[in-house]
Parts: sequence; structure tokens; C-alpha cells
Amino acid sequence: MKSNLSFKLIPALLFAGILFSVSCSKIKQTEISETYLPNEVPNITGVSNVDAGTYLGRALFYDKVLSKNNAVSCASCHKQANAFADNMALSTGFEGRKTTRNSIAIQNISNAVIGFGFQPLFWDGRENDLGSLITKPIENHIEMGMDDMTALMKKINERDYVKRLTPLAFGTNELSIDQFKNALVSFLTTIRSDSCRLTVDKLFGTQNLTPIERRGEFLFNTTYQCARCHQPGSIAFYNENSFANIGLDASNSDIGLMRVTKKENDRGRFKIPDLHNVMLTAPYMHDGRFATIDDVLEHYSHGILKSSTLDTRLMENNEPVQLNITTEDREALKAFLATLTDYKMITNPNLANPFKTK
Ligand code: HEC
Ligand code: HEC
Repeated sequence: MKSNLSFKLIPALLFAGILFSVSCSKIKQTEISETYLPNEVPNITGVSNVDAGTYLGRALFYDKVLSKNNAVSCASCHKQANAFADNMALSTGFEGRKTTRNSIAIQNISNAVIGFGFQPLFWDGRENDLGSLITKPIENHIEMGMDDMTALMKKINERDYVKRLTPLAFGTNELSIDQFKNALVSFLTTIRSDSCRLTVDKLFGTQNLTPIERRGEFLFNTTYQCARCHQPGSIAFYNENSFANIGLDASNSDIGLMRVTKKENDRGRFKIPDLHNVMLTAPYMHDGRFATIDDVLEHYSHGILKSSTLDTRLMENNEPVQLNITTEDREALKAFLATLTDYKMITNPNLANPFKTK
């Protein structure tokens, strides 16, 4: 049932992605200035509402005006070169304070919008609606610190590009909070990793993986059963098994999913991350504790710790499994994981900073 559904869904989403990118290409080369009231705004007269809305969302994503002291934008912690994750264990917020968790790669989150089932967002799944998520980082006292959304909308509506794009996108002169969220959601859902080699391979049966990559795939799916939790190359379908405690700690200081459900069984359970572009999203885990993929593989090899909520998929005879992954197998696993890198996504000009950097 699951694979049938994803079979239908992937082409549908790919198609949606193609539509998005075709429509965006018209305004691909335009740039706007980084000064707070830019004189130059893109010449997008005559484009459709979707184009203008998505473009507006993109500019907002890169605009530091969204933070209290104009110090950080969404892109400060979600960097295109890192598949819209951060290359720091913990990110730096508007006042230089650190976030409590590792920034998550923003990619393939359209399920949460298109309404194909439930897609948990954040490490503890505390949001599943992208529209209501948008204002959370803005209001967050560490991230962007704008607790007054009315004041923020006033600031944003003074921006020249907002004045130009709002009428085109929404037919109104002022950008409302809902329109602001819609524009950002519209941009965020264009961030997809459909062009990575594994996805292309799975979709079109191109057989383009090398022998070592294939071996890595076999190890991932069969020998070490990583695929019991991670299903790269497929559209993820989420359910209660989409969270796991993988034995990082014997007692968890961050209780993860339990914070949301208040259930003791959910202590230390975190969302199973999407491994697309994983080679670009170091450091790893909800707190960024591992600097490299080798550290991650070492954890699964010898580091899994016992606790009352350790996932049964990582247990054997009631004890934590120690996968003892050999050096050779680690190389093959890394080669396989690298087939999940989407170079188009991280260099796509439609996803890049539209502001001219000084
Ligand atoms: C100061 C750094 C910082 C800034 C600024 C920031 N984020 Fe994040 N973002 C994070 C961190 C850290 C997480 C993970 C938080 C958690 O799970 O508790 C996250 C998670 C997310 C997620 C969840 C992705 C998923 O798959 O679960 C989305 C979407 C997101 N941010 C969008 C945005 C948007 C949009 C903005 C701008 C309005 C923004 N972020 C600004 C650090 C930041
Ligand atoms: C029981 C389910 C489960 C199994 C089995 C599993 N993982 Fe994970 N994996 C997770 C969860 C959950 C996380 C995030 C944990 C956290 O941050 O607390 C994770 C994190 C990761 C990360 C870091 C991703 C990031 O963005 O931070 C990588 C890489 C990874 N796993 C690879 C593997 C490999 C390779 C295997 C097989 C050897 C494997 N996993 C087996 C559930 C699992």
C-alpha cells in the first residue's frame, strides 16, 4: 500500500516541482538590493500570482528585517549550500545566543502543505502545519525575537519589494499576516531534492549507481537495516513510528517527543530525519553532537546506549544492538548516502539569495 502510494505521489510532486521551476524561471536572473529600502526591485510585471508570491516568499526568507534587530534572516540558519540546514551544531540567533537544537534542512516539506497525511515538523514534531510554523522562529526569543507580529508587518510593509510584489501576488496594497505566511510557504515548498541520483534512479530505473554505491544501498537496506527507519529516495509517510530514541544518551536532557505528547514512552524520541543531502548537513542529530558521518556510523556501531525508551528496532535480546560496521562497509554506506545529494537544489538560482550582497 505504502509503496503504491509513493509510486503515484512522487511523479505528482515531481510534476508540481517542474511546474514551480518553469514558472519561476521567468524571474530567475533578477536581483534586488540588500539595503533596507531597495530602489531596485525585480521587474516582474506580467507574471502570474504564483510567481510573484513565491518570489516574495523567497525575498522574505533572505530578509533580515524579519528579526527584531535586523540581524538574522531565515537563511542565516537555513543555508542553501547546506541544503537549508546550518553548518553549526547550534545556530546563532538575533542577539548572538545559541538555539537549543540543530537547525533542520528545509526540503521536501510540501507534504505538510498539500495535505498528504501528516508530516511532523521540528525535531519533536510539535508542528504539522507549515503555515502556523512560519511565525514560530520569528517570535522565538532566541531565533528572531519579534514577539509583536503587528509591529513586524509594519516593518515589512515599508520594504520597497514588498510594496511592489504584494499587489502582484495578492491584489492588495498591504501584505497581511496570512499573505505573508502564504508567500513564505509557497517559497519553502519549492525546495525539493527530486534531482538527487538515488531518486532519479528509483523513479526512472536508470541503474546509474556504481557498484560501491549499490553495495552501500544493500548494506543500508538489508545488512544493517537502516531502512527500517530511514527511507531515502522515497516520499516519507509519517506515523507514530516516525520518531525514535536511537540511544544517544542513557538519560535524555532533551525529552523530544515527550514534550509534545507528555507520554513517558516518548522520552528521548526524535523525528527520523530525511537523509536527502545528508552529506551537506553536518553536524548531525537534534543537538548537532556529531561532526561527521563517520561519528554517526561509529554511534550505530558501538555507541548505542540503553534506556527505557530505546527503540526496539535497535535492540537485540533486550540489549542495545552494536552494529560493528566494518571500515569497508562504512565507505560503501557513505558512497550510498552521497547519492542523496541534490546538486541542483543547492545551486538552483531560484532558491538563492535575491538580494545583492554588498
Ligand atoms: C537562529 C536560527 C534560526 C532561524 C533564524 C530560523 N530557523 Fe528554522 N529552525 C532552526 C532550528 C534550530 C530548527 C529546529 C528546531 C526544533 O526542532 O526544535 C528549525 C526548524 C525549522 C523548520 C522545520 C523543518 C522540518 O522539516 O521539521 C522549518 C520549516 C523552519 N525552521 C523554517 C524557518 C523559517 C521560515 C524561518 C524564517 C522565518 C526560520 N526557520 C528561521 C533555526 C532557525
Ligand atoms: C530506530 C530507527 C533508526 C534506525 C534503525 C537508524 N536510524 Fe538513523 N536516525 C534515526 C533518528 C530518530 C535520528 C535522529 C536522532 C536524534 O537526533 O536524536 C537519526 C539520525 C541519523 C543521521 C543524522 C541525520 C541528521 O540530519 O542529523 C544519520 C546520518 C543516520 N541516522 C543514518 C543512519 C544509518 C546509516 C543507519 C543504519 C546503520 C541508521 N541511521 C539507522 C533513526 C534511526
